[in-house]
Amino acid sequence: ATTLAGAAQESGRYYGTAVAAGRLSDSTYVGILNREFDMVTAENEMKLDATEPNQNQFTFTNADRIVNHAIGQGKRVRGHTLAWHSQQPGWMQRMEGSALRQAMLNHITRVATYYRGKIYAWDVVNEAFEDGSSGARRNSNLQRTGNDWIEAAFRAARSADPGAKLCYNDYNTDNWSHAKTQAVYRMVQDFKSRGVPIDCVGFQAHFNSGNPVPSNYHTTLQNFANLGVDVQITELDIEGSGTTQADQYRGVTQACLAVTRCTGITVWGIRDTDSWRASGTPLLFDGSGNKKPAYHAVLAAL
Ligand code: XIL
Repeated sequence: ATTLAGAAQESGRYYGTAVAAGRLSDSTYVGILNREFDMVTAENEMKLDATEPNQNQFTFTNADRIVNHAIGQGKRVRGHTLAWHSQQPGWMQRMEGSALRQAMLNHITRVATYYRGKIYAWDVVNEAFEDGSSGARRNSNLQRTGNDWIEAAFRAARSADPGAKLCYNDYNTDNWSHAKTQAVYRMVQDFKSRGVPIDCVGFQAHFNSGNPVPSNYHTTLQNFANLGVDVQITELDIEGSGTTQADQYRGVTQACLAVTRCTGITVWGIRDTDSWRASGTPLLFDGSGNKKPAYHAVLAAL
């Protein structure tokens, strides 16, 4: 195959990217998007502040631009994200307790219902665990509504869109020996044992020299898959350049391909200049849209 999506499809997988609605008028950007990728994540447009800027007033204009473009091009969509401590609208940031719990569940129900049938997988809950060695839940307003907020979120999402895969998504969960990885693993194990509806775990995979691709990445992905969930690389970017960067991208690709239930990889943007990261040239295409060594390494490894 000559494209990322085409190569991924040969093993039944997808290759996706994050898309910003504001860039859909850039012909270089759209040309690469249409050619190389078969899965799309809205970079910001489906987040809570974007879809419910005022309580109970939902806006899907920008999200729909992305979803309609993707579906029109025969691509699938990962929904990102229904419940998160970050990028909440102001009214939600000021909420606590049972009112917030109800508002969260209403948000999930309304957004997942609106997109019912159009989403391959939802990141139902994003980044609920603390960094560091505690293995604890992150202290957010959502967590303070009660420790069962995550399973309540998954149940609401399942009711609203029974056909979508429901994922838990996080970062710094790549290294099997890290406390955060272990904590998420135990939550998924618990959910599976109690019948809480969870289908997949997303690994954001934002890497740099201080947080490199771990050598045990394949072990991590396999151990989660062994719990009976799909695993996906959901927001991949790796700071660096040249052969060093290409080798790391190859390693992530190989780790996914070695796990039957690793169903796809999404990079968090198209060109280096589209990246959320201020520096570090972390993506597969340079600012002019040229394929980088990392692109060729991924294509060859898929
Ligand atoms: C980032 C976007 O790329 C930026 O444009 C925005 O300013 C902040 O959010 N983890 C996630 C993504 O789950 O939603 C984040 O996206 C990057 C980290």
